[in-house]
Amino acid sequence: MKIKDKIKHLEELEKQALLGGGEKRIKAQHDKGKLTARERIELLLDKGTFRETDKFVTHRCTDFEMDKKKILGDGVITGYGRINGRQVCIFVEDFTVFGGSLSKAYAEKVCKLQDMALKMGCPIIGLKDSGGARIQEGVDSLAGYTDVFLRNVLSSGVVPQISAVLGPCAGGAVYSPAMTDFIIMVNGSYMFLTGPDVVKAATYEDVSFEELGGAMVHNEKSGVAHFFANSEIEGIDLIKKLLSYIPQNNLEDPPSVEPNDDINRMEKALDEIIPDSPNKPYDMSKVIEKVIDNGEFFEVHKHYAKNLIVGFARMAGRSVGIVANQPAVLAGVLDRDSSMKGARFVRFCDCFNIPIITFVDVPGFLPGTAQEWGGVIKNGAKLLYAYCESTVPRVTIITRKAYGGAYCVMSSKHTRTDINFAWPSAEIAVMGPEGAVKILYRNEIKNAKDPKALEKKLVDEYTEKFANPFITASKGYVDAIIKPSETRPRIIEALEMIENKRDVNPARKHGNIPL
Ligand code: HXC
Repeated sequence: MKIKDKIKHLEELEKQALLGGGEKRIKAQHDKGKLTARERIELLLDKGTFRETDKFVTHRCTDFEMDKKKILGDGVITGYGRINGRQVCIFVEDFTVFGGSLSKAYAEKVCKLQDMALKMGCPIIGLKDSGGARIQEGVDSLAGYTDVFLRNVLSSGVVPQISAVLGPCAGGAVYSPAMTDFIIMVNGSYMFLTGPDVVKAATYEDVSFEELGGAMVHNEKSGVAHFFANSEIEGIDLIKKLLSYIPQNNLEDPPSVEPNDDINRMEKALDEIIPDSPNKPYDMSKVIEKVIDNGEFFEVHKHYAKNLIVGFARMAGRSVGIVANQPAVLAGVLDRDSSMKGARFVRFCDCFNIPIITFVDVPGFLPGTAQEWGGVIKNGAKLLYAYCESTVPRVTIITRKAYGGAYCVMSSKHTRTDINFAWPSAEIAVMGPEGAVKILYRNEIKNAKDPKALEKKLVDEYTEKFANPFITASKGYVDAIIKPSETRPRIIEALEMIENKRDVNPARKHGNIPL
C-alpha cells in the first residue's frame, strides 16, 4: 500500500471510530434524551484540546459470536485534554457500543489512562453510562473491573478522581465511581448493584430503576452521590466548577483567583444573626455566605444529612473547605449520617491541601436507639478521626453551642486546630443546662417544695456560668473571642498566618479509621 493510501485508510478508520455503535444506536441514545459519548466530550473539554488514546482497540472475545461484532474503541473513549486550560485525563463510556459494558480491552484502556493520570499528576474524570460487566466475557470482565478498582484505590489522595453518572451505572460499574472523590448524578440516571428484577426475585419488593437508585435517591437517601444535576449540561458544568477549587494533585496547592471581594469587609448583620433564645434556630448558610468571597458557596452533598453543611468557597481568592453545623435542621445535631458526610469531606480537603474552616453550633449527638443501633459511635468517631489526622491549615469559629462530645469533634483546639475563635454568643459546656441540672440536682429537685421553680433557678445559674466563651478562653481552648461582624477579616488574617503550616503524623503504614 502506498503511503497516500495508508493515510486514506487511517482517515476511513477514524471516521468509523467516530460513529461508535453506529447511526441507529446513536439515534436510540438521542431518543432516550441522552447525549453521545463524543458530544459529552465536546461539552467537557476546552475546544480542540481532546487527544484520544487507543481509538483502534477492539475486544478479543470469541464466544457468543462476538468475533463477528468488533467495534473500534470498544465501549469507552479514553484520552486527555484541558478544562479551563488545565490538563485532565478522561474516559467516557459509549452506551452505543454493547451498552457501554466493560470488556477486558475496555478495562485495559482505562487502566492505561489511570496510570498516566497518576504519573502526570492530573485529575481523572469518568463519564458513566454502562450496563456493567460485559456478560459475554465472563471472568475476564470481572478481572478487568478489579484492575480498574485497584487503580482507583492507588490514585486516591494522589490525583482528584471525579465521576459523573449520565445513564445506567449497573452492577460492577458502580464500584469505580464509588471509590472516586465525587459523584455527580444527572436526573434520569441510576446506579444499582442489583437491578429491579433481582430485587424482586430476592425480596418480593417491586421497585423501579428510579426508586431503587435514581439520581435523587443517591443524593438524598444513600449519600452515594455528592451532586444532583437536572441535565447533562448542568452536570458537566458542575465538574468544571468543582475542578476550579481543587489542585491538580496532592503536591500542588489549589488554584487561586484574583481576590475580588473586600478582605476587610465587616458584616454588621452577623452581630444580630444569633437569636436571643438559645433554642431558636437560624440559618448557618447565611453566616457562611456573609463571610466568604462574594457569597459564592459551592455546596457538596447538599441534599444529604442537611444538619451539617459542607462545601467549597474562596477567602481572599483562595480555595477553602467549609464544614458547619446547621441549627436550622435538627437543631444542628451531629448524627450518624452527618458525621460520615463531614469526615469524608474533611479527608478530601486534607488530601488536597485545602484549608478547612469550621463553624460550630452543635447541641451534641442525636440520642435514640436508631442512632445507637445505627452506629453513631463509630460514625461520630470517623469525623473525630478525620479532624485529628488532618494537617492542613484549620480555623474554627464557635458561633453558639458547642456541647459535649460534639465540642471535641468539631475541630476543637484539642484536635490540632490552628486558630480557634468564639463569638461572644458561644456556649461551651459538657451538656445543655436542662440535662445537666437534672443529673446534678436530681434529689434536690425531687425533694423541693416547688421542684419546677428550683429547676428553673438552677438552669439559669448553670446557663449564666457556662453560656459564654470566657471560661474556655481563660483556659486557652479558644484563641480569641471576636465580634461576629469582624469574622471575615479575622479568618482571612488567620489563614494568612497559618498558610505555610507544616505538620506531620507519625510514620506508619496507615491509621485504622473506624470504618
Ligand atoms: C453485554 C450489554 C450489557 C452487558 C447492556 N448490553 N448491558 N451487553 N453486557 N452488561 C447491551 C444490550 O444487550 C443491548 O444490546 C445494548 O447493550 C443496549 O441495551 P438495552 O438493554 O437495549 O438498553 P436499555 O433498555 O437502555 O437498558 C439498559 C440496562 C440493560 C438497564 C442497563 O441493558 C441491562 O439491564 N443491562 C444489564 C445490566 C446488568 O445486570 N449488569 C450487571 C452485569 S454483572 P443489543 O444488541 O440488544 O442492542 C456485573 C457484575 C460485575 O456487572 C461485578 C464486578 C465487581
